[in-house]
Amino acid sequence: MRVGIAADHGGFALKEDLVGRLRAAGHDVVDFGADTLAPDDDYPDFVIPLAQAMATGTLERGVAVCGSGVGASICANKIPGVRAGLIHDHFSAGQGVEDDHMNVICIGGRTMGSSVAWDVVQAFLAAEGSQAPRHLRRLSTVTLLERQPTRTNRANDRHRARPTIDRHHPHAFDRRGPAGQIGAPGHTDGAGAVRLHALEPRDAFRSGGSPLAQPRSVRAV
Ligand code: RB5
Repeated sequence: MRVGIAADHGGFALKEDLVGRLRAAGHDVVDFGADTLAPDDDYPDFVIPLAQAMATGTLERGVAVCGSGVGASICANKIPGVRAGLIHDHFSAGQGVEDDHMNVICIGGRTMGSSVAWDVVQAFLAAEGSQAPRHLRRLSTVTLLERQPTRTNRANDRHRARPTIDRHHPHAFDRRGPAGQIGAPGHTDGAGAVRLHALEPRDAFRSGGSPLAQPRSVRAV
């Protein structure tokens, strides 16, 4: 199988170990770096090219390693067509492919030993995506989100970084963000200088037309 792999300094040693194991197992490995251990390097510089290759179909699967796997998974999932999962166990490594069509596995070089990492990578590579209608339906809903980035972003942008004057704190900014962030209604920072308001997610969906806001019966399958 053609497998891409990438790591920053936090995942470098584990990546080197996995490259050796993958090649010994007969896989065609494309190594996106880092090529050397550089304590100041940044995971996006290696994970983005891996994710882009995954999205364009030049790889069958991807392995992204950073210190925790968190940054790698956040980064890889920004590329449409990539379904990256942060994995710590054998079950999720296989089921993530079967049920969710995960195509990039993210692991932490500082959280996982090489034997366990090799076990989850093998489970990931051995699994195949389910074609069951319920799994394809969920995948379709997720894919629809990727096809509406402009509308969704516009809806979100309308509610972000909108400076207003607070008559009680005339020098304050009113920054709006999604519900659940710091910025619940009435939130103030320590000095009371910044006041943030939360929006209900449905407000953004209403104006952005997200498929998740539609009744289940009319969602695409
Ligand atoms: C790098 O020190 C570390 O922050 C990075 O590898 C990763 O763990 C981020 O999620």
